[in-house]
Amino acid sequence: MTRKRYLPVAGMLAALIAAAIAALARFIYPHSQAVDNYVNVDASKVPVAGDPPLEDKTGNFYLVNLRANEGLWGNDDHTAGGFVAFSSICTHLRCHIAWEPAQHWQTEREFATGLFVCHCHDSIFTKAGVKIFGPAPRSMDPLELEPLSDGTLRVHATKVHKGTAAYAPPDPKTMIPPSQS
Ligand code: FES
Repeated sequence: MTRKRYLPVAGMLAALIAAAIAALARFIYPHSQAVDNYVNVDASKVPVAGDPPLEDKTGNFYLVNLRANEGLWGNDDHTAGGFVAFSSICTHLRCHIAWEPAQHWQTEREFATGLFVCHCHDSIFTKAGVKIFGPAPRSMDPLELEPLSDGTLRVHATKVHKGTAAYAPPDPKTMIPPSQS
């Protein structure tokens, strides 16, 4: 093959490899499909403490505003509550996690209505994203959150942290406490 013929073939090969890498990245990091990599949740739509989670299907997440200690499994666990955004992609095999408002659950500390359920293999998570049942290896994965000055909450749909262990409360570092919201 002459040098003139070789160059276009090399260019096509490079383009094919780049497309394959991009497709693989989208498979591994599906959040990167979100528009502009973040989603702004307008102040008028931000849930108040104790409200049901707000789902955003563009960014594949739920925005939750927890009351203090809401949704915790261990009776000795504590959180100040506040905002947290959870990926709606299951930590087991990446199915969609649904919010089931009619599901009840109870611990010594709390009787609550509403659970996150992955219907692929029945993993169950509390409203605080805590994995309490099923094959999911950890709790729901939180996304980075940023409060803007006008009350908007910016959810960084591509900045995903690993969820805590099963039964463990969410990491406070991934939450916005009530005083800052
Ligand atoms: S993919 Fe969610 S439990 Fe298997």
